[in-house]
Amino acid sequence: MSHVSVTRRYRFCAAHRLHTDHLTAEENWAAFGKCNNPNGHGHNYVVLVTVAGDAGREARQLEELDRVAEDTIVRRFDHHDMNLDPAFADMTTTGENLVKLIWDLLVVRLPAGRLLKVGVIETRDNYFEFAGAGQLIGGSHG
Ligand code: NI
Repeated sequence: MSHVSVTRRYRFCAAHRLHTDHLTAEENWAAFGKCNNPNGHGHNYVVLVTVAGDAGREARQLEELDRVAEDTIVRRFDHHDMNLDPAFADMTTTGENLVKLIWDLLVVRLPAGRLLKVGVIETRDNYFEFAGAGQLIGGSHG
């Protein structure tokens, strides 16, 4: 097994509003502050996808990754309101939830064990990272 990993960067612009119907208006404001603004707001999201290297197949592998990422992530979210995405029907569009959703969308489309980590840069100072639920106990998620 190769110990080299490769990270590709993808970008999309999307709108969202941090809000949950499980809280009152005041509680939402307390939890999310200005991100709870009813008009929503947008981010230029950067998604960093890290995969295990596959010696001798790198070019083919990255082509495949680009295609999967475009199909499942960029096309789905770019210039969309994420609050309207079915995956967020009962989940707040936080960076934590987004990075896990992106992991879930990618892991089922890639060969087993290939996906190592997903990172999402939401703002200049906010970065979220997820490496799979089974990572800490030695298993590989998905
Ligand atoms: Ni935001």
